[in-house]
Amino acid sequence: MNTPVTHPRLVQWIQDVADLCRPERIHWCDGSQEEYDRLMRDMVAAGMATPLNPRKRPNSFLFRSDPSDVARVEDRTYISTSSRDDAGPTNNWVAPDELKATLRGLYAGCMRGRTLYVIPFLMGPFGSPMARIGVELTDSPYVVCNMRIMTRMGRAVLDALGADGAFVPCLHSVGAPLMPGEKDKPWPCAQIEDKYITHFPEENLIWSFGSGYGGNALLGKKCFALRIASVMARREGWMAEHMLIVRLTNPEGRQFHIAAAFPSACGKTNLAMLRPTLPGWKAECIGDDIAWMWIDADGRLHAINPEAGFFGVAPGTSYQSNPSAMDTLKANTIYTNCALTDDGDVWWEGMSEPPAHAIDWLGCDWYPGERHTAAHANARFTAPAAQCPVLSPDWENPNGVPIDILIFGGRRSQVMPLVTEAFDWDHGVFMGATVASETTAANIGAIGKLRRDPFAMLPFCGYNMADYFQHWLDMGDRLGNKAPRIFYVNWFRKSAEGKWLWPGFGENSRVLKWMCERVEGKAQGKHTPIGIHPQAGQLDLDGLDIHSDHLEQLFRVDPADWRCEAADIAQSFQMFGARLPARLQAQLDQLRARLA
Ligand code: GTP
Ligand code: SPV
Ligand code: MN
Repeated sequence: MNTPVTHPRLVQWIQDVADLCRPERIHWCDGSQEEYDRLMRDMVAAGMATPLNPRKRPNSFLFRSDPSDVARVEDRTYISTSSRDDAGPTNNWVAPDELKATLRGLYAGCMRGRTLYVIPFLMGPFGSPMARIGVELTDSPYVVCNMRIMTRMGRAVLDALGADGAFVPCLHSVGAPLMPGEKDKPWPCAQIEDKYITHFPEENLIWSFGSGYGGNALLGKKCFALRIASVMARREGWMAEHMLIVRLTNPEGRQFHIAAAFPSACGKTNLAMLRPTLPGWKAECIGDDIAWMWIDADGRLHAINPEAGFFGVAPGTSYQSNPSAMDTLKANTIYTNCALTDDGDVWWEGMSEPPAHAIDWLGCDWYPGERHTAAHANARFTAPAAQCPVLSPDWENPNGVPIDILIFGGRRSQVMPLVTEAFDWDHGVFMGATVASETTAANIGAIGKLRRDPFAMLPFCGYNMADYFQHWLDMGDRLGNKAPRIFYVNWFRKSAEGKWLWPGFGENSRVLKWMCERVEGKAQGKHTPIGIHPQAGQLDLDGLDIHSDHLEQLFRVDPADWRCEAADIAQSFQMFGARLPARLQAQLDQLRARLA
């Protein structure tokens, strides 16, 4: 092994993995453009990637996944702790010894005929005391190229690691060894029963097998920056959250920093890049998926974005809905499961009028009016954050940005109003703990099914969710009167006819404005049983054509619906037993009393 480092633990781990997985060769990634270009050239030559028309999308490539490997696999995701209770009732659990034995069996010889790539990566800006190093070992060149966009990756990270720096070991294989002379598939992966996304939080260890897609394979993202980091954060007194970070500046020049948690495919990237429709208001993107937050010397909650790129939902992204994302994607972008147009560009539902003909995500001819979509509903783009036209100059500030406002939300066609402010921190934690949302294509499973997704962390919390609730309460106690205000939003409420009641996207700036004015003590709120709503006239609707009846529906708190909601919350709390913080039970009791 030609090792560019003298980090004995790292070198030993790589040797152990090579002995088990039997790759044909080992490549240490330096993170250079030349390396990326060479890997892409090789993948194009092997028929795994399609280069897009360089006049339309310079240096951009389209990948089509195996039809079975199109999203995260929550059913195959495990938190493996010595005690089952430490993983808690919301996580799949198998004891570490047993799970490791199963995985060792699968890993044995799994990289035959392939290259093992060593990817040293940093989560967080260089120079930030919050940044953490990981090393991913993978047999997928697609993963290498994606990790180069999504993280700070390569030589500089090895230098930062030195001879004995700490790192999170992340082992990944697509689980498809190549026999001598066997031709590779365009998207190698294992069958669903053999896919395992496993985490061993007690040793900060990640083992992933059998999938090449997104959060299953780019291990810096959900596996490290959320599941493992959430455990580190609790241990060390900070927070790892499924949140976008955005800076809003009002016409007077005052800045507000907002972190918002919505479940997968429920609007984080869009809110992170919003173009306010209100005159004089400006928004800048800091992160679109994950926030690491801590209490800084000033006593306030500060946040960094640990990532360096966007792995975003393609369908629905257009110059109308998210022009900044469209501009981010003009070049140097990896597309996965989008449709290919006849002029060598990509297309997806909601981008524009459908082309007269395309090659769909399965690689087949596609014409408008066909029963299935041309792009998969979870088709994604991978693009460098630095290409975002509304990226904040502070996005790599090692000290992060001070958070003024925290938002929770979900996709609910009914019951949940457009915006509700929490009475106080505990009530805000209750709102987070009771987030419910209709499931999306970001996970393999049913779509459109309402489920509780506390803090949008149901698939991403690396420990007992009840303890996680308590950690939120503890953070509030430490923040005291410097704690951010907490709000709950729902952009997705529908009319009886099934139409969106709220226009969404850039118009969401109206809701954010009300929040900022609440922070400033300028805007009036109206107490309701479920929280604080804007008083009549306080939500800026200037220039917006919205029917007064729709507005009434957007804010309606139906007592019967909410008594059902409270009963459902009570049921969702039951699984935590005595571990549920008493302060959350008290919040539920108070909600019921207010509804009575
Ligand atoms: P992940 O990357 O899976 O975490 O998703 P995300 O939370 O970043 O969601 P994203 O912003 O990509 O939006 C997902 C889908 O919701 C897209 O199809 C969007 O067009 C749509 N969407 C986002 N914001 C709004 C909104 O304000 N209103 C409506 N109606 N749809 C929205
Ligand atoms: C999500 O599902 O929340 C995503 C996409 O951001 S993935 O990286 O696949 O997890
Ligand atoms: Mn996400």
